[in-house]
Amino acid sequence: MPGFELINNLEKKAVNKIFSEGAVFFAHGFNKLRKRFHVREFETISKKKMRSKFSLAVTSGTSATLIALKALGVKPGDEVITQSFNFIATVEAIIECGAKPVIVNIDDTLNMCPRDLKKAITKKTKAIVPVHMLGVSARMKEILKIAKDKKIPVLEDNCESMGAKYKKKYLGCVGDVGVVSYDYGKTITTGEGGMIFTNNKKIFKYCREYHDHGHELNPKYPRGMDTKSITGFNYRMTELQAAIGKVQIKKLDYIIKENKKRYENIFNKIKDSSLEFRQIPNNTDQIFDTLIFKCSNKSKRKKIVKLLNKKGFGTKNLPDAIKWHCAYYWDHALTSKQIKKLKKTKNLLETSIAIPIWLRKSVSSYKSLGKEILKIL
Ligand SMILES: Cc1ncc(COP(=O)(O)O)c(C=O)c1O
Repeated sequence: MPGFELINNLEKKAVNKIFSEGAVFFAHGFNKLRKRFHVREFETISKKKMRSKFSLAVTSGTSATLIALKALGVKPGDEVITQSFNFIATVEAIIECGAKPVIVNIDDTLNMCPRDLKKAITKKTKAIVPVHMLGVSARMKEILKIAKDKKIPVLEDNCESMGAKYKKKYLGCVGDVGVVSYDYGKTITTGEGGMIFTNNKKIFKYCREYHDHGHELNPKYPRGMDTKSITGFNYRMTELQAAIGKVQIKKLDYIIKENKKRYENIFNKIKDSSLEFRQIPNNTDQIFDTLIFKCSNKSKRKKIVKLLNKKGFGTKNLPDAIKWHCAYYWDHALTSKQIKKLKKTKNLLETSIAIPIWLRKSVSSYKSLGKEILKIL
């Protein structure tokens, strides 16, 4: 259930307040005109919530991934390993660095398969990017061990699972660096936006400078005379987005709590059926954003999807947006040799259905939905 469902007067008031505080929309400077620094405040609230040493607000999850990869030193000629159930953005960020995306299959968690990861590592591997898809953690215990043994940094793409945990730590703060997305469909939203989390000062420093044309924010000088040592780009979040983000992040725990009620209502109804459910790794807490199962019978699968659409639940990525989330279909970005290796993922995802958990749908409606699915089975 995305945060957009909960947008109300609080977000409206937060944005309007900026107009009475001087209407400065830029994160830096204009000190005489303004009363607040919303981007800085949003970063501080977020890093406290996620229990991370550093956080940096940026324009999107995609730019967050690109900046984090750059901070890890990814360059042309390097390889970066990520997974086959994903969103194209991760692969685009790798390509944008001039590096080669290496895609490994998923396992029954529908996230990165640690065995495939191990086989894919070469001397050129510069980073590993597990992606916590649709509310559930990847097998971080195994992935972190492989990465540690091979001394390769881990960038967690947590764009889809903000609030989920591994060993009681928030995802995105488990590897060397992590990213979240605040786009309109995500757990919490600022319209467009993203954030980078890390406990590593050097990574943070690089990210902060890179996302702001190399500005070092040297306290000895005004911004116009600031020092610099790298070139970067402009991936800065605006004050308007941050004002909304500050309201939305307070709703995160409520979103997860409400998701869980709906998820459990449908799951408990259908868990003993012939459906094969997505595995949730041990020692992890999901955010109950989506319920995914495999239904191998084509005719029953079709009937379930039809029911979901008829009742206004729809599906989440599987099957409605499979071509943007299954790397098997990315022949514009990957070689045919790479794609051939991803048949396992295609078969797994093509036979799966992802049910979105919506707040606008009542808790009891998920129980009724479960009953109707049982009738089809
Ligand atoms: C797994 C994953 N990574 C990255 C992104 C990119 O995030 P954004 O839309 O904020 O650029 C998304 C967004 O859909 C995503 O789902």
